[in-house]
Amino acid sequence: MLQDQDRIFTNLYGQQHFGLQAALKRGVWDGVKEMVQRSRSDIIDDVKASDLRGRGGAGFPTGMKWSFMPADDRMDDRPHYLVVNADESEPGTCKDREILRNDPHRLLEGMVVACRAMGAHTGYIYIRGEFYSEASNVQVAIDEAYEAGLLGKNSKLGYDVDIHLHRGAGAYICGEETALLESLEGKKGQPRLKPPFPAGAGLYGCPTTVNNVETIAVVPEILRRGVSWWTGLGPERNRGTKLFCVSGHVNTPCNVEEEMGIPLRELLEKHCGGVRGGWDNLLTIIPGGSSVPCLTSDVCGEIKMDFDSLRAAGSGLGTAAVIVMDKSTDIIRAIERLSHFYMHESCGQCTPCREGTGWMWRVLQRMAEGRSSYDEIDMLFDVTKQIEGHTICALGDAAAWPVQGLIRNFRPVIEERIDRFVASQNGAAMPVAAE
Ligand SMILES: Cc1cc2nc3c(=O)[nH]c(=O)nc-3n(C[C@H](O)[C@H](O)[C@H](O)COP(=O)(O)O)c2cc1C
Ligand code: SF4
Repeated sequence: MLQDQDRIFTNLYGQQHFGLQAALKRGVWDGVKEMVQRSRSDIIDDVKASDLRGRGGAGFPTGMKWSFMPADDRMDDRPHYLVVNADESEPGTCKDREILRNDPHRLLEGMVVACRAMGAHTGYIYIRGEFYSEASNVQVAIDEAYEAGLLGKNSKLGYDVDIHLHRGAGAYICGEETALLESLEGKKGQPRLKPPFPAGAGLYGCPTTVNNVETIAVVPEILRRGVSWWTGLGPERNRGTKLFCVSGHVNTPCNVEEEMGIPLRELLEKHCGGVRGGWDNLLTIIPGGSSVPCLTSDVCGEIKMDFDSLRAAGSGLGTAAVIVMDKSTDIIRAIERLSHFYMHESCGQCTPCREGTGWMWRVLQRMAEGRSSYDEIDMLFDVTKQIEGHTICALGDAAAWPVQGLIRNFRPVIEERIDRFVASQNGAAMPVAAE
């Protein structure tokens, strides 16, 4: 369990003020002047050595991502950009908004350091449109930082950075980094084909790095306390602290900062009052936002909450949004509801995603009633495999994985529902319709 002195987000619950004076008392902006006086490669080397992995879902190593930005400005005079992804629309995920609302200066100091490491002088925060109070607090923090000479020209930190806040209009797909860049440029938020990757040609065709709010917000603390402090927490390749968002059938749902690799059961029992009705009442957990496969209760009892452990268990840490479902849950209905979400949020560019998400939803709707057949379960699994990995962006995978988890872990529930329906029809098998 994480010790209090190792917590980074000391105002996660907003008990203190979010503004500059209170942030300074919490140690935010401490030592940033010294950090930005270091060379770009020096900062990136530390971030690489820390093994920090992106907190936006994919867990890509942050230092490596930063090193993709052109290193030598003399060869390329295009401006460099840092874009912070504050879209946070993944179901169950509610961690970035607490940073934005309660500790926005942590994000701003992180942006200054990240800009320095990547040779950028301009940073954008792309914030989910519905985050009204969060956007308002972030803007107050930006204004305070300009006023205090921490941002803008002739910064007293010795490295000039301008930060702009941009409010999105509330589309899940705009959280995908290239759709986000399109939207930021004022276009329809649809993912771009890669390559080129944003580090080569991102915002306005210039070298750009897109990072999650939490990723950027932890960097100054890693540099302040030292890489060895950070690598002393969590298992190898999965270092540091992590914000977990626990929702659903626990007694006290919460956001909490914990050590990477904490056992899932400990997370729920120490911080969330345990599963409603006791551990034996647990049906399943989706451990990383709605986009990853669910886990059986047996696995939940053993699993550690980090990227590699969850991957080895056939799921993923994703955004670390833990969705707990007890035995009162109709799991087919629950996954059907998630399928509806992905269908609704598909941008429609790729056929497998545009057609497949709707097809999966319609089949799951029938399956929830038992109006299906055993063969159709295999056909549904097959369709998920035709979507996965065959689309421009990962929304296709995100739509396919929860359905795969359902079939892998709860096939007997689907079959039993079909049997019940067939019995209610006096044994007449369900004719499978063309969807
Ligand atoms: C459909 C979709 C939605 C996404 N939404 C978000 C989001 O809301 N916030 C976020 O940080 N990353 C989101 N991502 C991941 C981003 O594309 C990108 O990988 C991330 O912002 C990189 O930051 P990181 O390296 O710090 O993790 C989304 C990806 C997909 C495919
Ligand atoms: S996978 Fe879906 S959301 Fe992503 S680009 Fe293709 S159609 Fe759009």
